[in-house]
Amino acid sequence: MNNAPIGIFDSGIGGLTVASAIRRLMPDESMIYFGDTAHLPYGEKSEAAVQAYSVKIADVMLQKGCKVIVIACNSASSSAYELLKEYAGRRTKIINVIDPMVDFIGEQHQNEKIGLIGTRRTVNSNVYHQKIARLHRNIELASLATPLLVPMIEEGFFHQRISHDIIEKYLEDETLQGVRALILGCTHYPLIHDEIADFYQNGVDVLDSSEVTARYVHDYLKSEELLSSGGEPTYEFLVSDYTDSFEASTQLFFGERVHLEYYRLWE
Ligand code: DGL
Repeated sequence: MNNAPIGIFDSGIGGLTVASAIRRLMPDESMIYFGDTAHLPYGEKSEAAVQAYSVKIADVMLQKGCKVIVIACNSASSSAYELLKEYAGRRTKIINVIDPMVDFIGEQHQNEKIGLIGTRRTVNSNVYHQKIARLHRNIELASLATPLLVPMIEEGFFHQRISHDIIEKYLEDETLQGVRALILGCTHYPLIHDEIADFYQNGVDVLDSSEVTARYVHDYLKSEELLSSGGEPTYEFLVSDYTDSFEASTQLFFGERVHLEYYRLWE
């Protein structure tokens, strides 16, 4: 048993989809969430920049004694996971959002054409392609960078005419024709899950990594006997820049009034 918090980070509100799945599955666990809003969007930054931000955030979480750190961001998972694993060493376990999804695809979607949408950083990294190829399960992966979606979601434009048009334009792209399932390769995208499912009239499985990642975290904590022993969990939300949308989204996901703490990442 271990009542230390679970550390979770993303560039902004996207990782809250993972945090809330973790809370649903493990309501006794405390969490520290870091939204690096000052550097959003990670998907448009260089690999070196995303690595530097990720190491800095991991440091904060290590100092706060997190028992596991979840990279709740595909862009950082594709660019900084290997580095963070090396950096954290034996101090703490690092979990990314890509491996749980790849495992799920390998079990449920063999011999199919699967689509992937994500940021430029994630799609251009080819990490999903490499990991899926290693499964040897005859899965064809068609990927498309959809860079307008993160700023659109961060600005609160979803379930609106404008988001509908942008989503439709991307999903009509030739690359994605004939897919049987679509991976939401960005943790912001579950917020537009329903609009994507509507586009496909529910004929394509729209796959979001939050639940599978939460399960992965649970299985790890259980196997290492690190699950919380109960008691009132605490939630700490740190941001590197204050934004209204972050506060509104944390309330949307966590129901109650949440206190956002401004954290000076670079001083
Ligand atoms: N939610 C993130 C991801 O999964 C970050 C997107 C961004 O900041 O560009 O990729």
